[in-house]
Amino acid sequence: MPLINIRPFELSDSRDVLEIEEAIFNEPNPLLYQVMESLPAEGFIVAECEGVICGYLVGTIFMDEARVLLLAVKENFRNRKIGTELMNTFISSIQGRANMVRLEVRSNNLAAQTFYFKMGFRFIGIVKNYYKNGDSAYIMVKPLDRLTLFL
Ligand SMILES: CC(C)(COP(=O)(O)OP(=O)(O)OC[C@H]1O[C@@H](n2cnc3c(N)ncnc32)[C@H](O)[C@@H]1OP(=O)(O)O)[C@@H](O)C(=O)NCCC(=O)NCCS
Repeated sequence: MPLINIRPFELSDSRDVLEIEEAIFNEPNPLLYQVMESLPAEGFIVAECEGVICGYLVGTIFMDEARVLLLAVKENFRNRKIGTELMNTFISSIQGRANMVRLEVRSNNLAAQTFYFKMGFRFIGIVKNYYKNGDSAYIMVKPLDRLTLFL
């Protein structure tokens, strides 16, 4: 189990973060460039494992709803609870300010769906044609504090 340090994103992490993103998703995500340029970005955190950037999470909070926009762990560091640490750190940072965390996940991304379900997220709907290639997105939410879902 590597030593994991979760901390805010710094500009000098850009190359490592982009490398992880491009290795997984094959194309650069415009959103990632946008948040990198708009520092300090409150919900942008990275995981450092033995001095290497091994994962990141981009989240936002607006009114009483938090959103996870991007989450990724470097392939050779997966299944070591780094995603769990990133998510728990983000949720702790918005605790008391949001009623729920919401995210979209590709309908064929079973690994991520299983991960989110384990983290307490539940499916509340589907958006057809959500992604550029026509894939659908499942919407998942995790209730916090005062909110109870009727599911
Ligand atoms: C989804 C992702 C962030 C999970 O990160 P991770 O650090 O590997 O996850 P963790 O080790 O914290 O896993 C926690 C739990 O999630 C579930 N899980 C994680 N990866 C899984 C997989 N590939 N298949 C099934 N369940 C999985 C397991 O229940 C696991 O608990 P367990 O180890 O006790 O069984 C990572 O797989 C990833 O970066 N995937 C590619 C990018 C991606 O799909 N991002 C989400 C876009 S919406």
